[in-house]
Amino acid sequence: MCGIVGYIGTEEAAPVLLDGLDKLEYRGYDSAGIAVFDGEKIQVAKARGRLKVLNEMTHGGEKLPGNCGIGHTRWATHGIPSDKNAHPHFNETESIAVVHNGIIENYLKLKKLLQEKGYKFTSETDTEVVAHLLDYYYKGDPLEAIIRTMRRVDGSYALGIMFQEHPGKLFAVRKDSPLIAGKGKNGNLIASDVPAVLKYTRDVYFIQNEEIVCLEADELNFYNIDGEPIRKEAVTIQWDVSAAEKAGYEHFMLKEIYEQPKAVLDTLNPRIREGRIEIEELGMSDDEIRAIKKIYIVACGSAYHTGVSAKYVFEGLARIPVEVDLASEFRYRNPILDPETLLIVVSQSGETADTLAALREAKQRGVRTLGIVNVVGSSIAREADNVMYTWAGPEIAVATTKAYSTQLIAEYLLAMKFAQVKGTVSTAEMDEMIQELKQLPVHIEMLLDHKEKIQRFANRYIAAKDIFFIGRGIDYAISLEGSLKLKEISYIHSEAYPAGELKHGTISLIEEGTLVAAVLTQEELYKKMISNMVEVKTRGAFLLAVTNVGNTEVEKAADYVIYIPKTHKYFTNSLAVIPLQLFGYYVALGKGCDVDKPRNLAKSVTVE
Ligand code: AGP
Repeated sequence: MCGIVGYIGTEEAAPVLLDGLDKLEYRGYDSAGIAVFDGEKIQVAKARGRLKVLNEMTHGGEKLPGNCGIGHTRWATHGIPSDKNAHPHFNETESIAVVHNGIIENYLKLKKLLQEKGYKFTSETDTEVVAHLLDYYYKGDPLEAIIRTMRRVDGSYALGIMFQEHPGKLFAVRKDSPLIAGKGKNGNLIASDVPAVLKYTRDVYFIQNEEIVCLEADELNFYNIDGEPIRKEAVTIQWDVSAAEKAGYEHFMLKEIYEQPKAVLDTLNPRIREGRIEIEELGMSDDEIRAIKKIYIVACGSAYHTGVSAKYVFEGLARIPVEVDLASEFRYRNPILDPETLLIVVSQSGETADTLAALREAKQRGVRTLGIVNVVGSSIAREADNVMYTWAGPEIAVATTKAYSTQLIAEYLLAMKFAQVKGTVSTAEMDEMIQELKQLPVHIEMLLDHKEKIQRFANRYIAAKDIFFIGRGIDYAISLEGSLKLKEISYIHSEAYPAGELKHGTISLIEEGTLVAAVLTQEELYKKMISNMVEVKTRGAFLLAVTNVGNTEVEKAADYVIYIPKTHKYFTNSLAVIPLQLFGYYVALGKGCDVDKPRNLAKSVTVE
């Protein structure tokens, strides 16, 4: 996720752009840039690093005079954070400037086509393709060039565009990435999100998919993809800036819980093509995949929990033995690694010291490594032999939610890719799984609609001292995550336990009213789970059950049931985690905890 801004009016544009980008830094902050029309040419300044670097470089914008400009703060997806990959991007004559938030899914194909026509590229980004495509279609009419470009581009985009030959106009267009326009006293603006414009206006236009907006200093005109003028009504924003950065949510954590459907979609979409799993970034030929005889998944915290889930998926689908390890343990236990091993490290930040050290240990022993990482260009992403990015966008809350969910997706896709190459899964089952994967965002949306019900239930437990999560098989993996989500933000002691193991000691902790959350999504384990639930219930426990729609049998043992939509048995963690995330969030909220910044914790643990 990135942030774009644009301004045209009577004021100097650069300070307005920098101020707007400052309000959008939560959307991405590994590099930034602005382009301003100085009356003759489009001047540009861009730099890797936080917005502060750009501010200093341009003396707060003074070094770029002019009343019309666009700006961008980047969360890298294609191309590492660097000066040349920073936006804005240009055509070769630098007469067209573009800033972009989103992912151009067919950029490689378009880049090849343009290069065959003689276009030269200077960056590794997908966005630069748009600048050259606009150039290719521009014959004097900016609107026509934009429309023809939109028809060729697949993926998601919010674009800010300047044409040097049309200095009194600024264009913006949207498909799937958020975009607003604002009518200010001294000029008009575009932005990825409301916070960037609130200082100048509270009257904003929410641009819908395939709508184009043309800004002039004193008017805004809107068009559809056929170039026909359309009418739009302004909406008056009531939020303050801080609330607006969270898009009106009380905390970043809740906002990020709600961003999961899109994060899952963005991570899935580019890797499912014509009914097959395609993961070019894996960098392994089919023969190299077939040669892998063992997989290690090494990570910390929630990332480790995704590995515990993925073990069941990999072993179930691709019949490859998988060992899951905590990074802080892996590197000191002299692991047995041979050339036919693939070591996968999973990390949202890509900077976790324990995980980075485990990666280096494996590389030293000559083992092939793959990183599943959310931050492009981070240490783990750079040092792993290959990297598969999760496209969750910046995750601000310390407690991970959308990054966790996209890590699960990446591991499902990898396991399916291995099974596809090894032929261990029938075409029919692969087709069914792909259909179920595509349904996950819809199912997650449905579960998010139950937040009030979960909030009411959570409020009963804000004074709890101990809460247990139990499950068998892949449901044990999600119990681990549910327990961590709760304890790390509400400070209530919690443990996750394999349900069959409770009777070997821990069951002595169960007292009258102790909450036990039982996750049972694996049909073949329902009966076993229900008997484990009865075991704790007879000792006084209050049973919350998370189970599949239709498993009403569980109501005999559970006191409170949350049903999740049916999905493939290997994907249930992606759905069961939603009510558990919301439960942890609302318990912490009810206790008045600092949900986004829990005590003693950091978003990235860069110490061992
Ligand atoms: C989970 O909510 C925590 N924030 C923590 O367990 C985290 O998952 C762990 O520190 C690993 O971080 P990483 O994914 O950035 O490597």
